[in-house]
Amino acid sequence: MSTADYPLPNASTDLTGKVALVTGASSGLGLRFARVLASQGARVALAARRTDRLEALADEIRAAGGEAAAFALDVTDAARIEAVVGEVEAALGPVDILVNNAGIPDAMRAHKMPLELVDRLLAINVRAPWLLSCAVARRLIALERTGGRIVNISSAAAFKYRGEGAALYAVSKSAVARMTETLATEWARYGINVNAIAPGAFSSEMMDGMLERMGDITQGYPRKRLGDPAQLDSTLLFLCAPASDFVTGTVVRVDDVQAGR
Ligand SMILES: NC(=O)c1ccc[n+]([C@@H]2O[C@H](COP(=O)([O-])OP(=O)(O)OC[C@H]3O[C@@H](n4cnc5c(N)ncnc54)[C@H](OP(=O)(O)O)[C@@H]3O)[C@@H](O)[C@H]2O)c1
Repeated sequence: MSTADYPLPNASTDLTGKVALVTGASSGLGLRFARVLASQGARVALAARRTDRLEALADEIRAAGGEAAAFALDVTDAARIEAVVGEVEAALGPVDILVNNAGIPDAMRAHKMPLELVDRLLAINVRAPWLLSCAVARRLIALERTGGRIVNISSAAAFKYRGEGAALYAVSKSAVARMTETLATEWARYGINVNAIAPGAFSSEMMDGMLERMGDITQGYPRKRLGDPAQLDSTLLFLCAPASDFVTGTVVRVDDVQAGR
């Protein structure tokens, strides 16, 4: 292809014909990600434990003319992760876009964390995106389907820790950033692009809990404000768009320089 073969600009975010699987679509950022992908024509698989919320979101997307289906998924269940990729394929088609969004905070001092919480946080924030990425990549490779996109949700905490009782969370989000880089390299030859978004502080249920515990944390930020999930739309679509096929292995910080550089 030469430059003349590309549209001007080559920046369409049309996702018609694509199937997107979003984990943690029952609240916060994941709910917004699902709505946004559906708005661009993707058929969206909504995954989380609270299926009543997923069903309500699927109804809303269908009422707006989109296509969506709800899938019960506890991401700590490795067998269920493997199964859900097949269920989505049977219902909507093979997964082209995976948004690894489900995640939990630790909200506890490192030396006080019970083993159960250590294991649980690592299972949800690190093991699950790894397993899901591998399950989706296996299918894309087997079907020789290029144009796959994996978007991992890391965090500004991957780069800067302010000592707010989120040490293991920060470690897990660094792992997500590194996972993004290594899997992008691993699957480059299969046409699967792996990128991440590292959000700063955005309104969500997780953030509500943090504000309750810590007070107004935004006072320590340069612009003293929280982000709205809608302010992640453009980055999500940039990373999912077919036009971004040269963008892989990248972690995009969307954090209002929350912790400086
Ligand atoms: N909000 C922020 O400021 C911020 C900043 C940086 C990064 N992040 C990251 O963004 C992602 C979304 O966070 P959020 O702020 O939107 O939090 P949230 O509102 O608490 O949403 C978390 C989502 O994860 C799902 N989830 C949790 N445990 C799960 C499990 N075992 N199996 C399946 N799904 C599970 C929840 O669904 P169910 O409970 O229904 O299963 C929920 O939909 C997380 O990875 C978080 O670390 C958020």
